[in-house]
Amino acid sequence: MKVLSAMQPSGTLHLGNFFGSMLPNRGYQDSADQALFFIVDLHAMTTVHDADVLRKARHDAARDYLAAGFDPEKAVIFFQSAVPEHAELQWILSTLTPMGLLERSVSYKDKVQKGIDSSAGLFMYPVLMAADILLYDADKVPVGKDQKQHVEMARDIAQKFNNAYGETFALPEPEVREEVAVVPGTDGQKMSKSYGNTIPLFGDEKSIQKAIMSTLTDSKEKDDPKDPDTCVIYQIHKLLLDESAASALADEYRNGLPYGDAKKRLFETYMDYFGEMRKKHEALKDDFVAEVLYNGAIKAREIAVPKMEAVKRAVGLL
Ligand code: ADP
Ligand code: TRP
Repeated sequence: MKVLSAMQPSGTLHLGNFFGSMLPNRGYQDSADQALFFIVDLHAMTTVHDADVLRKARHDAARDYLAAGFDPEKAVIFFQSAVPEHAELQWILSTLTPMGLLERSVSYKDKVQKGIDSSAGLFMYPVLMAADILLYDADKVPVGKDQKQHVEMARDIAQKFNNAYGETFALPEPEVREEVAVVPGTDGQKMSKSYGNTIPLFGDEKSIQKAIMSTLTDSKEKDDPKDPDTCVIYQIHKLLLDESAASALADEYRNGLPYGDAKKRLFETYMDYFGEMRKKHEALKDDFVAEVLYNGAIKAREIAVPKMEAVKRAVGLL
């Protein structure tokens, strides 16, 4: 089984990203025959038009993922733009992608509604994503719910290509992480950078502490029994505990653990849980990060270059 996924270099990673995407994806490094992960800096250009911002964002994303255990010994890890075949294949695929297919993209409509300028690049986003996937003949593409339609589009485009030019691409399957619980943010809604309710994974300890201490609670008095099932602090805390520790903590809530203490305990557990990862993040040298990603691109191109050659043969460019 060949697994491929990719991540946007967009901002500070948070606990929701960790449990919702990083942890399950990281697991494929051990379970898949081959795992490919890349940072989609070309896709990021549909919303970022500042060179310094993009440069920093892609580098920061690489550092974050390496610190979080994405391992170049086990997976191929690279920047999308370092493999020019992605953009090259995108063009070829675009020539058989119906406009109607792209017009149905929910993500495109959402983004335009949110005020993002509707460039041709933004409209073509799903075609570049199809190229990302088809170039490597990925079987399985783990994504969040919002990206399922894009993987289905990649499958449609692969089918169109295969019909027109003969069997060339494997048909990818989206693997939607339905079973992953939505991580609540500090205000009880889904944790998301667009709601300003996140607990960051990296960065200074003070901002983690501030985020945790600001977690919403109800108006129960200090010693009143608390309901762990409706308490956001507990819902976050239990993600970091094994079953027996989580159930012992739930009992403490029922026995009146004050919210202030509950937050302090969460902060301690948080720093403990992510301690190693955060240390690694600090220790990673820029040159090392750049070298790892450079070597990853070389490995990716060992697959992408011959695949592109086969595509060119199929369409009559060779
Ligand atoms: P944000 O909502 O902060 O912008 P992204 O959309 O960049 O997050 O999310 C990247 C990945 O992390 C997605 O696959 C998404 O499913 C996962 N993710 C983000 N927030 C959460 C959350 N609160 N709970 C579970 N998964 C999440
Ligand atoms: N569009 C995806 C997101 O916003 C990122 C992405 C780009 C991707 N290319 C991909 C995901 C290929 C999986 C496979 O999260």
